[in-house]
Amino acid sequence: MPGKSPIRIEAHFTPRELDELQLKDKNVVVIDVLRASTTIAVALRNGAKEIIPVANVDSVVKISGSLFGDVTLRAGERNARRIEGFNLGNSPREFTEEVVKGKSIIFMTTNGTAAMAKGRHARTQIIAGFINLSMAVNYLRELNSDFIIICAGRENGFCIEDAVCAGKIINRLANDSEPELILDDSGRAAAALDKNFGTDILQMLERSHHGTYLSAIGFAEDLKVCGELDSVDVLPVLSGSIIRAHKQDNLRTA
Ligand code: MLT
Repeated sequence: MPGKSPIRIEAHFTPRELDELQLKDKNVVVIDVLRASTTIAVALRNGAKEIIPVANVDSVVKISGSLFGDVTLRAGERNARRIEGFNLGNSPREFTEEVVKGKSIIFMTTNGTAAMAKGRHARTQIIAGFINLSMAVNYLRELNSDFIIICAGRENGFCIEDAVCAGKIINRLANDSEPELILDDSGRAAAALDKNFGTDILQMLERSHHGTYLSAIGFAEDLKVCGELDSVDVLPVLSGSIIRAHKQDNLRTA
């Protein structure tokens, strides 16, 4: 039996240089550990029907105008704080079952949902963080195809927590006996960062630039949620412009 063909992984530490066309028909993994990836996975685990990621406030207003108020929530942050007039901010601890069950959530965050919106014409797009890392790795194993990792980063710059999470996905896949992985320089750097900083995730988050900021404005508890490896059994998948929880049997048609 011939072995599996090599998988090419392209990693980006920020979405800055990417546009929708480059992602068209590609398999994409978006990572925003602090906090959009985490919040989306928690919301879906707690029964949210769907999340609609948008890149700016105008889109929030336009989309919410055509939806029913009692089944739709508006969530999002600027400078990590809830946007005035919105139902929710971007703290995963706000997205409880009581609040989100059965709801559609229009979601806007500074870096995370902007990166997700860029991949809306991708062939497949999954949303990953530490909390659902194994779900993402298993999906990519089954996909068995080239993919692009996009770290949401911070204000179009590098952030360590997304890079370490990207590296952890790569290192998990690299541990498999096959397929061989072909990495670009960013992918190799991410894998090395995981080996250095990924052994104590909470400490890495607490020392990170955005983690320090979140703690300073009262969200220190969020870092614990965002850093808890494999605590959420949900893999968010963007299809068209809507994120829903992935169902195992969707994979072959994705
Ligand atoms: C973002 O998308 O920029 C983040 O999720 C910011 C935050 O921590 O709220």
